[in-house]
Amino acid sequence: MACVLGMLATGCGSDQSITSPVTEPAREIDTLWWAMFAGGMVIFGIVLGLLVLAYVRRRRSSDPDRAERVSYAVILGGGMVAPVVLLAVLFAFVIRVMPAVSAPEPGSTSLTVEVTGHQWYWEVRYPGTDAVTANEIHLPAGTPVRIVARTADVIHSFWVPRLNRKIDMIPGRTNSIELDVPKVGTYRGQCSEFCGLGHAEMAFEVIVQPPAAFRRWLDHEAQPAETPAGGAAAAGQEEFQSASCEDCHTIRGTPADGKVGPDLTHIGSRRTLAALTIPNTPGDLYQWITNPQGWKPGSRMPGFASLPASARRALVSYLEGLR
Ligand code: CUA
Repeated sequence: MACVLGMLATGCGSDQSITSPVTEPAREIDTLWWAMFAGGMVIFGIVLGLLVLAYVRRRRSSDPDRAERVSYAVILGGGMVAPVVLLAVLFAFVIRVMPAVSAPEPGSTSLTVEVTGHQWYWEVRYPGTDAVTANEIHLPAGTPVRIVARTADVIHSFWVPRLNRKIDMIPGRTNSIELDVPKVGTYRGQCSEFCGLGHAEMAFEVIVQPPAAFRRWLDHEAQPAETPAGGAAAAGQEEFQSASCEDCHTIRGTPADGKVGPDLTHIGSRRTLAALTIPNTPGDLYQWITNPQGWKPGSRMPGFASLPASARRALVSYLEGLR
């Protein structure tokens, strides 16, 4: 509803709206949404009309028998016949949409991407390669991709409104969905199941690239981190290891192999930090290292305000250099 009101004022063509679909399943869902909205408005109008009618005609019933027959007809028609018909139509509509949004069979697509929900970020793996990233899912345009969704802790829900329906990430279970995006672009996704304090700050981006560019990205992402040549970045790497960052984060090609937080092997090339909470700039990364709880309360990342500022700056130059 807020979206509809917003649409009247500004247009709803944001990068996270079910009413601007870019794939076939999302178009089906969009049509279903508008049909339900239109149906709801018609019923709302009829109920309002009956209310007004009841008010206008309230003193005119001189024939009690007739009044009773009318009441009976309204209750039978409005209370039983109309809901049965409406729900049947809606059911038929949903049955029609289901094949378009059903889970793909394993092996039915040439590419599979594994996404794991964590409190509160998304771990993204490309089976068959060493590539691991977080909060960014790169996909080739015009290619059906099977997304395999799991959780590392509580229930999360994977949802990219412009691309397909939501699927839950349930402990001990694997769910999947197909994303087949014809258009190059960036599409925002959001966790849509309340999963704790950081639920609202658990967003991600699906970055759809031309297939050749995607292959280049994947090849690079699978590489280990480059060792800094020297200077502040090299000091930052030592700081990363001595300040216990490596207990929680993995940087492939270095001793850091923690599994609590996101893989940081190529963090410098990501667009955002903390699951789209802040842009990935040196200044923001410095603030994040200093006081992550100020940005994302409840996050498992501790603050490092106790480190000297020079050490934090060195960490920033090391991490921003990991491209
Ligand atoms: Cu994860 Cu809400």
